[in-house]
Parts: sequence; C-alpha cells; structure tokens
Amino acid sequence: MSFIVAIDGPAGSGKGTVAKLVGEKLGLVNIDTGAMFRCVALKMLQDNIALDDEENIKKILDSINIELKNDNGNLIILLDGNDVSLKIRTEEVSKFVSPVSTNPMVRRNLLNLQRKVSEGKNIIMEGRDIGTVVFPNADVKIYLEATAEERAKRRVLQNQEKGLKVDYDEVLREIKIRDERDSTREIAPLKKADDAILIDSTNMTIEEVVKCISNIIKEKKNT
Ligand code: DC
Repeated sequence: MSFIVAIDGPAGSGKGTVAKLVGEKLGLVNIDTGAMFRCVALKMLQDNIALDDEENIKKILDSINIELKNDNGNLIILLDGNDVSLKIRTEEVSKFVSPVSTNPMVRRNLLNLQRKVSEGKNIIMEGRDIGTVVFPNADVKIYLEATAEERAKRRVLQNQEKGLKVDYDEVLREIKIRDERDSTREIAPLKKADDAILIDSTNMTIEEVVKCISNIIKEKKNT
C-alpha cells in the first residue's frame, strides 16, 4: 500500500522547497502539482489560446505530455519532452496560470493525471487541493502558511537565484490577487482540510519546517 503526504498552502509558503527536502530525506516521490497547471498555462501561451477557448484547451489537454523527473535531487519538468523547469516560473506564466487553474476541464484532467502518477508509490504531493480533493484520505495532511509579505520576499529571492528579474511590489500584488482567486474559486479552492495540521512558517527556517514535517510523518508511520 502506498503512503501519501499532502502539503497544501498558498503561493510562496515554501511548499515546493519543503516537499523536495522532506521527500529526499524520507524516500518519498515528490510531485509538484502547481508545475502541472503551469505546463498547461505555458502551452496555452505558446499556442496563443485564450482562457475561454474551450475547444482548443481540450485539444491541448488531450495531447499534452507532462513529466516530472528527479535529476540528482532537482525536480525537472518536461513538457512534450522539452525541459520547461525555468520557463514555467516566469511572471507571465505565474499571472496566467491562476485563471487557467479555475477551468473545470483543466482541473478534471490534471486530477486524473495526479492520481495516475501516484499509483503504487510513496509520495509527497504539494498543491492547493491535495488534502481536500485529490487525496482526501492521505496519511498525513499539512497546511503550510506564511504572511503575504514574507512569501513575496521569498519568491523574489528564489527568482533572483534563478537569474530571473522581479520586483517585490509587483510580486506582492500578484500574490494577493492569486490568493484571492485561488481561495474563492468554485472548484477545489485553496482551503485547509479539517484534518490537516496547520504550520505557519513566517518565522521558521526551511530546516525547522522540514524537521517539523518529517517528525509528523515519522510519528504517523510508527502508529
Ligand atoms: O504552487 P504554484 O504557484 O506553482 O501553483 C501555480 C498555480 O496553480 C496557482 O495559481 C494555483 C494553481 N494550483 C491549483 O489550483 N491546484 C493545485 N493543486 C496546484 C496549483
């Protein structure tokens, strides 16, 4: 039987980094569901597909090939065979992906993909609706939070490290818009599952969050 850890939370809460590190430490396959939504958004931008063009969105969903690979501890995202790990993190994609992720057809399609890639594996999956919709029976559910200001600061640093130029005020504004849209959308909104453990990482280091979540998982495995 597979073991499932669900990590949900808003943009920039540290889910990505934490899921990667906890996954490595405890031997869980890390699945970044935000990257899947970002791939669909990138493909729509590349093909000039509008948000309301259901027919062409369907064509994209029917033909798109998204792969998540682990390359020496780094998560590599392949879209139709091409490495788009950096391209999907640009501000252009970040802005476009939020409305894309409200599309019911996109959500249905990616929900199937998320469950399929997890089959038979011990996983740590991060996103917005993992503990509420994708795996409501997950063995461990974490909801990771931090203030919008702290999250904007982290996103700016993260992008600078990747050589992407970003402006703090712009990132903060985008994060607030995205929070609002992600948590008020009709289908699978960003929401803490009733049985999820809440961790506020505003004043915690990555190492502290990793340790805290690892301990929760180890405890659960021993029960
Ligand atoms: O975690 P992220 O910033 O890479 O996510 C990108 C977008 O995808 C975000 O605006 C919300 C959406 N998303 C979602 O709706 N459901 C998920 N499980 C993961 C991401």
